[in-house]
Amino acid sequence: MKFFVDTADVDAIRDLADTGLVDGVTTNPSLIAKSGRDFVEVVQEICDIVDGPISAEVTATEFDAMLEEGRKLAKIHKNITVKVPLTRDGLKTCKALSGDGTMVNVTLCFSANQALLAAKAGATFISPFVGRLDDIGTEGMQLIDDIVQIYANYPDLKTEVLVASVRSPMHVLEAAKIGAGVATLPPDVLHAMFKHPLTDKGLDAFLADWQKTGQSIL
Ligand code: E4P
Repeated sequence: MKFFVDTADVDAIRDLADTGLVDGVTTNPSLIAKSGRDFVEVVQEICDIVDGPISAEVTATEFDAMLEEGRKLAKIHKNITVKVPLTRDGLKTCKALSGDGTMVNVTLCFSANQALLAAKAGATFISPFVGRLDDIGTEGMQLIDDIVQIYANYPDLKTEVLVASVRSPMHVLEAAKIGAGVATLPPDVLHAMFKHPLTDKGLDAFLADWQKTGQSIL
């Protein structure tokens, strides 16, 4: 399973990339706004930190302008994955950009039929939002299960399921059990996955006992 980081905070990305466990980064207009930084500048910086797909989202809503924005973003770096919303114009843009050889992440997916359309439009990634479905009392992870199952029925579809709107390590665990290819994680969720109180307790005991031996490895 690949892990992307879901943030435009360059320091947080650099910190997590240092672990060697980060396969890509996703941003969206809200995350760019939160960073308070220039969009192109911040995306360029992220591309220099992580060698993997870096999602940068278009903000136009009509095909011609979406395509123009997408092509401009794609020129920033070979790893740019243009993010388009799951609308008719978004999928038309997806088809055109993937025809150019550009990676495309179709975002704001809330149904399995939408995911099927995105795959037919040549999406590299489909981003179903589990947290936002949970928020409205719908089982977000059921959508992941449905999409993974549907895509598996059609091996010609090459779109990867990118679990988005992840809110907790439990979402990651459930997505991994289903077999989703990618999850994009807010930094706090990735940090939390390292942690277990019994790991800390066990390590303290091992180190205390080791100290009693008076030995050193180096
Ligand atoms: C990532 O591609 C999405 O934009 C992001 O995961 C949305 O997360 P949120 O629902 O927590 O805003």
